[in-house]
Amino acid sequence: MTSTGRQALGVDVGGSGVKGAIVDLDTGELVGERFRIETPQPATPDAVAQAVAEVVRHFGWTGPLGVCYPGVVVDGVVQTAANVDQSWIGCNAEEIYSKALGGQRVTVLNDADAAGLAEQRYGAGRNRNGVVVLLTFGTGIGSAVIHHGMLLPNTEFGHIEVEGKEAEHRAAASVMERKGWSYRKWTKQVTKVLVAVENTIWPELIIAGGGISKKADKWIPLLKNRTPVVAAQLLNTAGIVGAAMAAAEEQSAG
Ligand code: BGC
Repeated sequence: MTSTGRQALGVDVGGSGVKGAIVDLDTGELVGERFRIETPQPATPDAVAQAVAEVVRHFGWTGPLGVCYPGVVVDGVVQTAANVDQSWIGCNAEEIYSKALGGQRVTVLNDADAAGLAEQRYGAGRNRNGVVVLLTFGTGIGSAVIHHGMLLPNTEFGHIEVEGKEAEHRAAASVMERKGWSYRKWTKQVTKVLVAVENTIWPELIIAGGGISKKADKWIPLLKNRTPVVAAQLLNTAGIVGAAMAAAEEQSAG
């Protein structure tokens, strides 16, 4: 399928699945079904590129294509791999994906940055003009900072040190699972991370994303930090939608 109107294909590469969908950029909604395949193990750049190509071929898509990655990406080049295969570091992900797709243009960005763009335009960050921070709680902690609709990429608040420990080692959702903590116990750690973030950047709103935001009513009310915290609204489509947005913007800019 080629692009009709304002549509783009977004692909979210996660630890367990590679998921893609065509996104209607006027509404932020998916056009048709999401398509998902298992993330290959080990998730090396070439293996993931083949998986991404399979998802793109499923849609027969030749229009703007965005893919998000769970680490720092600068000009298409991966700089970090905190929770994924180390062989990604230094790889030009845009080139690798493009090659697997016979030269099709691809935009690659950080997964939390993609989610932040999507929430800001279509979700919990709509109509906010001040600084909005999105934090995703999953295997690690991802972050996005948005101001007046503009993204400041690669903020990586999951790696700031909070009371002598990296934020994501203290308060990722995976820490709660691994340690068998209650929401109450976990939110004490999340509060510490949020206080560190809000004292550094003073957002007007913090959006909590990642899989655990589906159960936001169980833990957001327990937080004790200063800035209002709301749950993400796009849930498991935010990465796809944000990747599609980034691709449409970059590729229309030439
Ligand atoms: C990575 C971030 C990523 C986050 C969520 C962190 O470990 O450093 O870049 O956004 O995990 O996937």
